[in-house]
Amino acid sequence: MDSFRSKENLNRFESIFGKTKQLPRLFQAPARINIIGEHVDYLGGTVLPAAINFAVQVYLRPNDTSTYRLHSVTYNETVELKKPLVSNPKAPWSDYIAGVIVEIEKKGHTIPGFDLLVDGNIPQGSGLSSSAALEVVTGYAIKETFELVISKEEVALIGQRAENHFVGTNCGIMDQFIIAVGKENDCISLNTDTLKYSYHHFDLGDYEFYLINSNVKHSLKDSAYNQRRAECESSLVKIQTKYPIFTHLYDVNLEESELDTCHLTNQEWKRTKHVTSERERTKIVINGLESGNFNDVGSALFQTHWSLSKEFEVSCPETDFIVDSLQSLGVTGARMIGGGFGGCVLVLDKKDHFSKIEEVLKKSYQQKYNLAIDFYKFQISDGVKEIYI
Ligand code: GLA
Repeated sequence: MDSFRSKENLNRFESIFGKTKQLPRLFQAPARINIIGEHVDYLGGTVLPAAINFAVQVYLRPNDTSTYRLHSVTYNETVELKKPLVSNPKAPWSDYIAGVIVEIEKKGHTIPGFDLLVDGNIPQGSGLSSSAALEVVTGYAIKETFELVISKEEVALIGQRAENHFVGTNCGIMDQFIIAVGKENDCISLNTDTLKYSYHHFDLGDYEFYLINSNVKHSLKDSAYNQRRAECESSLVKIQTKYPIFTHLYDVNLEESELDTCHLTNQEWKRTKHVTSERERTKIVINGLESGNFNDVGSALFQTHWSLSKEFEVSCPETDFIVDSLQSLGVTGARMIGGGFGGCVLVLDKKDHFSKIEEVLKKSYQQKYNLAIDFYKFQISDGVKEIYI
């Protein structure tokens, strides 16, 4: 990944923005998976994500003006932004960059003009966090180039704020955080309430994780993501009137009969059920990965999928079909990952099952949905960093 299209992109940068004595610097941020802890990172929950070797790369060079000139290789499009920065519906990709500039400036820094070229190979809308990667790589590139004292953790928070305030998705902190602090071969367990985290390396032995992309695109912004979050928040408010001890929905450990007295709507009840049961599954998965009990891990992953599908209602027929088929084919575990409504399924299985599963599922999915699926093997990679060219 480190060398991806480097030469062509440098040439392209210079042909769009001009050649000067100063070379642009190159920065890269990864995609992410999440092993367990889905839709709990805005509710104070624990998540277990890892950075993987798909990436967004940006080349950045100050331009001694007050204009930001941005080029996307994916869209073959150049835009020029001047302050005050506002959302640009004609080039939505540039909002992730503009949002980060705005959020860094809110912290009291002034960001001079720069030229930036962005390229990437993270499949968009696949639940692997291409937008968070763009936010984090932009924040990191700006901080390094203009020598701002901002930690990686703070870069993550800036990215989240850009998404919440400028792009309009009320996402949690998981994606930006792992993309900022990820480490080769390790996942992290992150407490999204305190932002305390630790690195973990699990030896998978004969097992492996891989991804299946349903190729159904979700749009977090237009989807029910913000609505789900609002339902969780209103559920907590109702629970707190009776049980003020709970500060996070994730911590609620009431009996059903006690919950019954909180007057939740049917939807609030179901969302609460997913969130609180995910807490128990997260413990099982962490213990199972540590002790090598992969069957326990796998069955918790399946349970999470069906909880996301039936209780949290963020799956879709295509990903349900994939997980259902995998379950019938006897794989160890699988579930949708990320915001939902399509995108990728994370699979845990014995390494030697892979080719058979791939063959069978590609065929049956194509037959049922007239749509191809993609299988991705991946490596656990570093978080955001500079690539020296
Ligand atoms: C998206 C959001 C994250 C998280 C996941 C669901 O990826 O950006 O903050 O909420 O969905 O776990």
